[in-house]
Order: sequence, then structure tokens, then C-alpha cells
Amino acid sequence: MKILLLNGPNLNLLGKREEDIYGNISLEDLNERLISVAKKEDCEFTSIQSNAEHELINEIHNAGESNTDVILINPAAYTHTSIAIRDALLGINIPFYEIHISDISTREDFRNKSYLSDIAEKVYSGLGVDGYEMALNEAISKFKNK
Ligand code: DQA
Repeated sequence: MKILLLNGPNLNLLGKREEDIYGNISLEDLNERLISVAKKEDCEFTSIQSNAEHELINEIHNAGESNTDVILINPAAYTHTSIAIRDALLGINIPFYEIHISDISTREDFRNKSYLSDIAEKVYSGLGVDGYEMALNEAISKFKNK
């Protein structure tokens, strides 16, 4: 089974950025955690972070051509702005889980709108970085051997 994790803009600053909201674990440490879960389940796991919308879109297109089974995505601020990322995900027909470290429904009004939630398999929001592990486990149990 092949899983792709995409993290959007500013998530490279995880662990240093607004720690009261996003916590103090780095993206590198988070990736290590997820890699070990995926390894135990015999899954191929790739994690990519980009600050550029077009790079995230290109990675989504690549996933569509490389037998990726599931995408996990924290689009960060693009959640609230990017019809292009929505269209890319619709274009490839691979199930995806939307993840947010913070609870986007209880923050500023402009974060209430997600261009992805209605087409996501499921949304994990406000569970801290544990949301990534929960989404990964759910993706594995739902789509492994399918
Ligand atoms: C975020 C929430 C977004 O509103 C914000 O722009 C982010 C991170 C989260 O993980 O809580 O960069 O997606």
C-alpha cells in the first residue's frame, strides 16, 4: 500500500511556529513517528512539504500516476483559498484525508471555510499532531488490501 502525506505552507516551521497553537514537535520528528507506523503495517509512506501551491498540485498529479492508494493532506492556509488544490484532488480520484493540527472551526472566521472538507474521506481537525497518526491508521485500516 502506498500513502502520500502532503504538508502545505509554513508547516516546515512546525515546532518553532506559534507553539501555543501548533505544539513543539518538528515536522522531521512527526515524519519519523508516521514512518514507523507505516513500516509496521508494511506501507510505502512518502512525506512532502511545500510552501508553493503549484508544487503541491504537481505532487497530487504525480500521485495520480504512481499507484498511490491514499493521500493525507494538511494544506495549511491553502485550505481556505485554493480551488486549484480542490480541483487537483478531484482530478485524480484518490481518496484523501484532510488534517489540521488546530481546530479551524474555532479560530478566525476566515479559517472556517475549507475548500476540501466536503470531498475529503474524513477531516481530522484540532487533535494536534496526533490527527496525522489517526488519519494514517484510519487510511491503512480502510484501504489496505483494497
Ligand atoms: C492549519 C490551519 C490553517 O488555518 C493554517 O493556515 C495552517 C495550519 C492547521 O494545521 O491547523 O497553516 O492547517
